[in-house]
Amino acid sequence: MQTVLVTGGAGFIGVNFILLARKAQWARIINLDKLTYASNLQSLAELEGAPNYDFVQGDIGNLELVSSLLERYQPDAIINFAAESHVDRSIFSPQDFVQTNVVGTFQLLEASRCYWEKLSLRRQQEFRFLHVSTDEVYGSLTPQDPPFREDTPYAPNSPYAASKAASDHFVRAYYHTYGVPTLTTNCSNNYGPRQFPEKLIPLTILNALDGKPLPIYGDGQNIRDWLYVTDHCEAIYKVLQQGNIGETYNIGGLNEQANLTVVEKICAILDELAPKSDFGYSSLITFVKDRPGHDRRYAIDCSKIIRDLGWQPQENFESGLYKTVEWYLSNSAWVNQVRSGVYQDWLKQNYENRKV
Ligand code: NAD
Ligand code: TYD
Repeated sequence: MQTVLVTGGAGFIGVNFILLARKAQWARIINLDKLTYASNLQSLAELEGAPNYDFVQGDIGNLELVSSLLERYQPDAIINFAAESHVDRSIFSPQDFVQTNVVGTFQLLEASRCYWEKLSLRRQQEFRFLHVSTDEVYGSLTPQDPPFREDTPYAPNSPYAASKAASDHFVRAYYHTYGVPTLTTNCSNNYGPRQFPEKLIPLTILNALDGKPLPIYGDGQNIRDWLYVTDHCEAIYKVLQQGNIGETYNIGGLNEQANLTVVEKICAILDELAPKSDFGYSSLITFVKDRPGHDRRYAIDCSKIIRDLGWQPQENFESGLYKTVEWYLSNSAWVNQVRSGVYQDWLKQNYENRKV
């Protein structure tokens, strides 16, 4: 069984990856996470004390800590999920994004290079550093533009996207300069169980259940491609096993939707699963002031991973969204825990001055 160091494994995608990896017995996992506001160890409670799983609280930017973990656990691969990941927060405090996404990834690469250089030739050839990135590095599309390909030039527009673009460039440089066997994945918007409710889909579900306004930025016609989180995790595993080193792989859900449509679909599911006698959920939809620099459209051409690695998204948006809403309805303990004071502070900071 391979040993994999997963960073950011207490966040939304990392948690889903670890749960899937454990179920499928893909690997022994070491989970390194700083435990920021976005993390939730409650999501991994079932793994406490489990064999072949260790959790370490710490920062990917702590070179000494990461180096000692690499020496101790001798991993065959590193998957870097750790990041500050929310565009709106990057507008309020970009420095956190530079620190973790740029400096943190650089330090993680440095520790990995020093570790990798000391491995035997066979283990050097087998080692992989897989960096999880985003489609937002490619910038914004018009309705007529073709979807992003792996060779689309980078044009990041938000501090978040710029910090992820910088980290991707460092990963590329460590392959070209030092020969570290890297892989990069650029995926679209993930959705599914256990996502922190600052992002559009869980925010809409929880606000609706509370009878609060459902905030739509601008005209609601910004388009995102939505990828079910388990499909993303399966794709990451395929890239880890079969990807060509030094290359990047786009991962998408083949599912472009305007934000207003996404919110209306959630409302329709809630009307069915948790009906209110006095109102329909869509009556809560409220148009608010737009996000500065709001990218109009993201779309992913994922024909490379489909053709070369035989991956396909399994979930369509109707079934994926239904499962997601059902998960939030049936996990009230998880939901109540994440709606802490810190989360309320964020709602106040982001939404108080958006009223139109
Ligand atoms: P998330 O914000 O839910 O979780 C991030 C995790 O990283 C948290 O557990 C946090 O505690 C941890 N972390 C933050 N800074 C750290 C540091 N310095 N050291 C160690 N751990 C740290 O993010 P997510 O949605 O799970 O995203 C995972 C990765 O996927 C990120 O790199 C993100 O950029 C990328 N991505 C996410 C999406 C999406 O839709 N969620 C889309 C494209 C790409
Ligand atoms: P988000 O989930 O923050 O992901 P990203 O910015 O990485 O795409 O937002 C998804 C889309 O939904 C984006 O176009 C912004 C929009 N949005 C709203 O309209 N209202 C909201 O309250 C939020 C959080 C997002």
